[in-house]
Amino acid sequence: MMLAQSIRRTISHLSPPMCRPLSARIVDKVNIEVQPAQTGADAGAGGAVLTFPGVWLRDNCRCPACYHSSSQSRQLDWNHFDPGVHPLALHVDAAKEQLHVRWSDAHESSFELDWLRRRSFDGQSQSAYLNDFYRPRTSHWAGAQFEQIVQRFSYDQVMSEDEALQHWLKALAVYGVVLLNGAPLDEGVVRRLAERVGFIRRTTYGEEFIVQAKPGAKNYAYLSLPLPLHTDLPYYEYKPSVNLLHCVVQTQSRGGSNLLVDAYHIADRLRQEQPEHFERLSRTPVDWNDIGSEDGREFHNIWRAPVICLDADGNYTRINHSVPQRDSHFNVPLGQVLPWYESYARFVQLARGDAYSFKTQPGDVLTFNNLRLLHGRTGYDDTADNSRYIVGAYLDWDIIYSRLRVLKKRLSKASGTAAA
Ligand code: OGA
Ligand code: ZN
Ligand code: ZN
Repeated sequence: MMLAQSIRRTISHLSPPMCRPLSARIVDKVNIEVQPAQTGADAGAGGAVLTFPGVWLRDNCRCPACYHSSSQSRQLDWNHFDPGVHPLALHVDAAKEQLHVRWSDAHESSFELDWLRRRSFDGQSQSAYLNDFYRPRTSHWAGAQFEQIVQRFSYDQVMSEDEALQHWLKALAVYGVVLLNGAPLDEGVVRRLAERVGFIRRTTYGEEFIVQAKPGAKNYAYLSLPLPLHTDLPYYEYKPSVNLLHCVVQTQSRGGSNLLVDAYHIADRLRQEQPEHFERLSRTPVDWNDIGSEDGREFHNIWRAPVICLDADGNYTRINHSVPQRDSHFNVPLGQVLPWYESYARFVQLARGDAYSFKTQPGDVLTFNNLRLLHGRTGYDDTADNSRYIVGAYLDWDIIYSRLRVLKKRLSKASGTAAA
């Protein structure tokens, strides 16, 4: 008796006081409620109740018949999936932190608590996932805030260190602009950067493109004239996402400066201050176009879309703006034309007033979101001994976000913290 008591005392001294072990129950016949173990130490923190729809759990069974682990893909037979499937009995293995379920379709599944936790349906967990792992939440800025929001990274570090690569891409997603510096002055820089992330996006103008003043230029950008604020390739349905502009040679004279505007900020202002302009610019389809030839191949691109493109929740998906590349065809009812011009003129006026100007130097790579920022440049002198030479390329968001997620998982595994 004395011995048993002393053993009990020793055990309770070694392990933390267990207030409540892992448990689970069926709720309303269709949902499963999981109550993680609560110890004295984490009561109230990691111990919140998690509720999962049974149908979703059954759909996500991890057994080899339902889930193909090497391709990380569902292989459940969906031709016979019953949305009315529901749990009949539960069993928890507290030591292994697992939940076992017996289903109405005679199947059985097991789930790890940690796996369940990371897929919690509670609003806070879902918004943390959506605003970080899915796509980092954007932060909009006025031109006057440029120096506070712009981040600068060394080209060499981005090329050699995963943390620097991650910081570059994350800042690009959040602020839409990042400067890389110290790049070598060869024409392969933008390709190497794009391939460090994934791969280059090809357009009518090739993979890499050279921006320099060219006699008889067929593209407005290839003159030394001022290039008004614009987004590149608004006439593509699938518009290139991110511009990489590598300054190899910069004009020594005045001019040749970059202009940048966060058009999400301009759209925010219109939405607040002049909602009628915002409405028109987000509802009126505009014909964007580009006609020409490159390397002997003719092209005629058209894409119809508003200046401010929104998703079903009212979030910005893309901004289109280009004076030279707006078609003379305008396929809208007559009565919409003049009001649209008034709204567009206001948008352009606000953007011009907000533009931040700076001049990249040889070795700088200006990287920015072409679906969000407007960019331009001031006119410059171009002579034989004072020229300007920029090499550009594009990357797509699908490739960038994917790289960010892979980096996050890899870096958090290395540091022992959990990614999604
Ligand atoms: C372009 C462009 C910027 C620059 O070619 O579309 O925006 O600095 N160029 O010349
Ligand atoms: Zn299964
Ligand atoms: Zn451009």
